[in-house]
Amino acid sequence: MIKSLSEKRILLIIGGGIAAYKTLDLIRRLRERGALVRPVMTEAAQQFITPLAVGALAADHVFTDLFDRQDEQDVGHIRLAREADLVVVAPATADLMAKHAHGLANDLASAVLLATDGPVLLAPAMNPKMWAHPATRRNHKVLVNDGIAFIGPMRGEMAESGEAGEGRMAEPLEIVAAIEALLAPVEKPLAGRRIIVTSGPTHEPIDPVRYIANRSSGKQGHAIAAALARLGADVQLVSGPVAIADPAGVLTTHVETARQMQAVVENLLPADAAIFVAAVADWRMADAADKKIKKVAGKGPPALQMVENPDILAGIGHHAQRPLLVIGFAAETQDLIKNAQAKLERKGADLIVANDVSHDSGIGSGGVLGGVMGGDRNRVCIVTRQGAQEWPELSKQEVAQRLAELVAERLKEHQKN
Ligand SMILES: Cc1cc2nc3c(=O)[nH]c(=O)nc-3n(C[C@H](O)[C@H](O)[C@H](O)COP(=O)(O)O)c2cc1C
Repeated sequence: MIKSLSEKRILLIIGGGIAAYKTLDLIRRLRERGALVRPVMTEAAQQFITPLAVGALAADHVFTDLFDRQDEQDVGHIRLAREADLVVVAPATADLMAKHAHGLANDLASAVLLATDGPVLLAPAMNPKMWAHPATRRNHKVLVNDGIAFIGPMRGEMAESGEAGEGRMAEPLEIVAAIEALLAPVEKPLAGRRIIVTSGPTHEPIDPVRYIANRSSGKQGHAIAAALARLGADVQLVSGPVAIADPAGVLTTHVETARQMQAVVENLLPADAAIFVAAVADWRMADAADKKIKKVAGKGPPALQMVENPDILAGIGHHAQRPLLVIGFAAETQDLIKNAQAKLERKGADLIVANDVSHDSGIGSGGVLGGVMGGDRNRVCIVTRQGAQEWPELSKQEVAQRLAELVAERLKEHQKN
């Protein structure tokens, strides 16, 4: 495990939302990376998880009370704020957002937030109706204008059954990535570089309610965009429909189809590098129906006439404004390296990141098809004209970090030549 947050002091404010249970995992993930986590819990937070569990995981005292004489003498809310490299609020409730947007300080959490002049990251979590309410919209705007960073909320199912929409707290690893981005070391080898990244699947409509899709989650592409941003790049992410949050520090454009993705990517040129991670659908309907195709008794299923989608990677690989570095991803189920090398030539790419998405790739954890698509881990092979280099099985975050470093090296070499 890379100690990416070694000795970083994180003051973690836990608000009173159902997502507080995910914060227990967040504490673990932060400590794994070497961070020192000092927890503050609101009174409401203690209805959802116990200070005992939080304190045990953080291995620190849990601060809960603005008027605790012992705590105030020992540390005090001003010192709590001053002694942090970053203040993180997870879950950030509608209530905490409202209080901070208005400068209230009537409990420990809000007083610490007001006494902080360092960076602050909020991971909101609330019912979609609360998030969409004009009051929360106003508070969000005020906080963004005040320089507060946000991660999420995400779209998806709420813990309350039957509710879905925008309001889910970002997953612990997404919050960790946002924290890493905010606390990144000052060395920025990609500063001044403009990099385009595509991520996620594309959806190709069959009719207004049906579409052709694939199992790409966007996790790898989004992690790469975030890792490039951490190294200082100006990253433009073009994302197909995914259920994960936009990475922090990255400008994200959302698209649905391959043709939309191609148009956005071409509009973003010129760039120093372009990395095509998205699993773009190879085919689309020749003529998507503009009304829902009806099931007609006795008529059988409709014949789906398909045509080929544009090849975005090849288009950019041979473009008049071709970036210095063009990288493609190849998800293969057989003859991994041979297919990747052929792709390199055909598409005018400098490097292909080949990953084996077959059932026997032996990678577990969460995904389908051998665990790579949708999962959290990946085993890739870096194929260039000089040869192929296999990387060990890594988390998608680690693959992203290594690839971002490789991009920095390659662009530096270009500068020398
Ligand atoms: C079961 C339950 C779940 C709740 N979940 C949330 C939530 O996810 N987000 C939120 O903003 N408020 C939620 N609330 C409301 C907050 O707990 C309430 O506004 C509280 O005053 C917040 O206090 P705090 O901001 O000091 O932590 C929930 C309340 C209950 C009873």
